[in-house]
Amino acid sequence: MECVIYKTLNAPIEARVKDLLSRMTLLEKIGQMTQIERSVATPSVIKDRFIGSVLSGGGSKPFENAKSADWADMIDGLQKGALETRLGIPIIYGTDAVHGNNNVYGTTIFPHNIGLGATRDADLARRIGEVTALEVRASGAQYAFAPCVAVSRDPRWGRCYESYGEDTEIVRKMTSIVTGLQGQPPEGHLKGYPFVAGRNNVLASAKHFVGDGGTENGTNEGNTITSYDDLERIHLAPYLDCISQGVCTVMASYSSWNGKKLHTDHFLLTELLKKKLGFMGFVISDWEALDRLYSPHGSNYRESILSTVNAGIDMVMVPFRYELFLEEFLSLAESGEISMARIDDAVERILRVKFVSGVFEHPMADRSLLDLVGCKAHRELAREAVRKSLVLLKNGKDPKKPLLPLNKKAKRILVAGTHADNLGYQCGGWTISWEGTSGKITEGTTMLEAIKEMVDHNTEVVYEQNPSPETFSGEEFSFAIVAVGEGPYVESGGDDPELKIPFNGAELASLVADKVPTLVILITGRPLVVEPSLLEKIEALVVAWLPGSEGRGITDVIFGDYPFQGKLPMTWFRSVDQLPVHSGENSLDPLFPFGFGLTC
Ligand code: GLC
Repeated sequence: MECVIYKTLNAPIEARVKDLLSRMTLLEKIGQMTQIERSVATPSVIKDRFIGSVLSGGGSKPFENAKSADWADMIDGLQKGALETRLGIPIIYGTDAVHGNNNVYGTTIFPHNIGLGATRDADLARRIGEVTALEVRASGAQYAFAPCVAVSRDPRWGRCYESYGEDTEIVRKMTSIVTGLQGQPPEGHLKGYPFVAGRNNVLASAKHFVGDGGTENGTNEGNTITSYDDLERIHLAPYLDCISQGVCTVMASYSSWNGKKLHTDHFLLTELLKKKLGFMGFVISDWEALDRLYSPHGSNYRESILSTVNAGIDMVMVPFRYELFLEEFLSLAESGEISMARIDDAVERILRVKFVSGVFEHPMADRSLLDLVGCKAHRELAREAVRKSLVLLKNGKDPKKPLLPLNKKAKRILVAGTHADNLGYQCGGWTISWEGTSGKITEGTTMLEAIKEMVDHNTEVVYEQNPSPETFSGEEFSFAIVAVGEGPYVESGGDDPELKIPFNGAELASLVADKVPTLVILITGRPLVVEPSLLEKIEALVVAWLPGSEGRGITDVIFGDYPFQGKLPMTWFRSVDQLPVHSGENSLDPLFPFGFGLTC
């Protein structure tokens, strides 16, 4: 019987890649470079068009409140289509697991990256990566579009919360999540070569290459204007750490560098990333990035394919117009405008990552992992991350009379604000739906629920989402906890030149602070304007960022079971007129400097 090298488990990966590539037709090769959205994917489409990958766009799920087992059913069904192809090349299924496996109901939702940046705890990030990988694999997916290693230089950017902060060194440190997601490469692992330890790990995607957090005025998908040296020093450095950890994929940024779209930048994608840095995984485009290259949206699609694939894009996140994509791509290949050498290089990278991932040997979901999803141990890790992310900005009008830690045995306390009892607000964007939504969106614990558990059974907890003067007509309150902040948002929807506390949060906090000693907790993806008049009248101020599903992590600290240890990952500006302002590069005095954080 013929020895089929690519099907031989213990054959060297490069031999398997070479053998399989040599057997593939042009259509099979182009199909491997195509990633489509689940809503247009069926087993027969995958089989007939040799599709290499499927993804869930933000919030795209089998049905409302689908749980991990439902996802596994969906993905395994699509995989069967791929395994029925002539060569049986399995798909990889990608999802934005950016703070846990956050598209899926019932999973553990971790703090968004901005909060993890406040911890500066690389080992915590690694452990979060490990747990995230387990919960992603339980759903049948093998590929996480994470971590975002943007260095966010301007809080007006709608994706600031997806970044670990403004400081390159912190972002570099937190790239340890790659090792958590993919596993630890062995000593002597070839630098730049993709690595996945086993079935409990996933492919990671360092994103968005490069300079997405440095655009003018923080405009999402905008233009980063810097020298090459500054691009390398500020924005490129975290990618070196990801590559040294064997990151399997890199996602190109929608943004531009000095006016040139990253997706068409051969120097950055090929000369720098692949040749100079030796990256041997694959580069994936961002969602409909090819459609956005020319206006009107999607015009000149042929030119988009030509310029991006020739620049170094290996897999295209189409995600819907795959018929047109395949037709135009085939035409470009047959005309030689896209060379076979370029196509073979891209397919080689994709096959390499697939062999490394083990998906040939284990194409189906491992349902033994389902019991781990949202389990106590995972939620305790998320709770630890929340604790470590909290930053104490003020504690006591008179520092000699601090309000925190709060008294668990207080007689009567007021809990108020739009964010005190809202899991959706705690989680922010990229949770269950793309933009995120208000309310009980998944399983978890709100701040109010955690407060009620924490205080003495004789303590009266009065909850008023929107307090009025009547709220204070009764018996005195010992103190008030007012939780306000941002509603969920995502990508360009989060670009904000004003950065005021939404939902009249500042006015609400001020009304309460006029009556009662008040702790304000900000639920936010970034620094916001805090007027001096408000800061003066409140007793204490804590920023909890976007903490996710485990609200107990907040009460653990504000009631004194654990110390505050978080430090600002972003400079807290005094006024938006100062922006952009960051440590060491702007003499304007901020309200709170980068790295600030009180303890108690
Ligand atoms: C989005 C984002 C990217 C995400 C991708 C798939 O537009 O830019 O971060 O991974 O599309 O959802």
